[in-house]
Amino acid sequence: MRETIHQILEEARGAIGEVKSAADLEALRVQLQGKKGSLTALLRGMGRLPAEERPAFGALINSARETIAEMIELRGMALRKAERVLRLEAERLDVTEPRPQPALGAAHPISMVLGDMVDIFVGLGFEVVEGPEVELDTYSFELLNLPKNHPARDAQDTFYIEDNIVLRPHTSPVQARTMLSRKPPIRVICPGRCFRADEADATHSPNFHQIEGLLIDKNITMADLKGTLDAFARGLYGEGIATRFRPSFFPFTEPSAEVDMTCVACRGKGCRVCKGTGWIEVLGCGMVNPKVFELCGVDASVYTGFAFGIGLERTAMMKYGINDMRALYEGDLRFLTQFR
Ligand code: DAH
Repeated sequence: MRETIHQILEEARGAIGEVKSAADLEALRVQLQGKKGSLTALLRGMGRLPAEERPAFGALINSARETIAEMIELRGMALRKAERVLRLEAERLDVTEPRPQPALGAAHPISMVLGDMVDIFVGLGFEVVEGPEVELDTYSFELLNLPKNHPARDAQDTFYIEDNIVLRPHTSPVQARTMLSRKPPIRVICPGRCFRADEADATHSPNFHQIEGLLIDKNITMADLKGTLDAFARGLYGEGIATRFRPSFFPFTEPSAEVDMTCVACRGKGCRVCKGTGWIEVLGCGMVNPKVFELCGVDASVYTGFAFGIGLERTAMMKYGINDMRALYEGDLRFLTQFR
């Protein structure tokens, strides 16, 4: 009988050792400990034994059952542990694995050209100042020698908010504000948004950008203006770019000039962009009109100065070879990201 029990235990040990999963182990447990198990069969046959042998025999079978239960428990623990290790292996995250890159934005061509221009003028000793986009008529016109009913006011096609409040049609009001709030020497540029009641087309937009420049000191001449604008042209477009002054009229400057730059597309040879002339008109400028000095509290017997106003759209279009201004405002990312 001991032999039989020993044999049952050894078989159970072998079978338990070979089981490969918790589920298989459970099936085996049912088989070994259930009603059809070999130990159960032995217990059932106990009735045929002499009464005095029964207790010892029962104890043997019970101890064998406990041994089997222990073996199952241990094997179960080992299997569960192995299964967990496998699961963790499978779940492992590779934190070094490359992931899809978020889409990168790009600076707008206007912002880029503005940054370049600010760098150049700051390098020449200018300081950046700003003024409001919603501006008083006083700064926009009156103090710039454009009194009410002045014919040049019509040319501006200004958006009026109230009788005396406009969306500034140029950055020139910042000149007036600067002269009234600072003492010369003054050397500022004023970048910003401007508005005019223009129809949008390839060369116009009701909303556009300018950079105003103003320099006031003793003994400033038109040569300083020319030298500054030449340095600006070369700084933005490289050597070989020159400026050409044509006489013009602005109420706030006297004398006034319109300035052309060597066409960047053909470097002066003449092309479609410059209509064969080799030049492109880029800005208006002049020597600050003594009348403006008087209106803005600068002593014209001591100081002279120059001023200029540059359109940013035009400059960006030249720099990046853009031929329709509307492209700058349509927000098409395929267009905007190519200047990165
Ligand atoms: N304000 C002028 C415009 O919008 C541009 C301009 C011309 C600005 C001459 C100036 C200047 O400061 O001196 O067309």
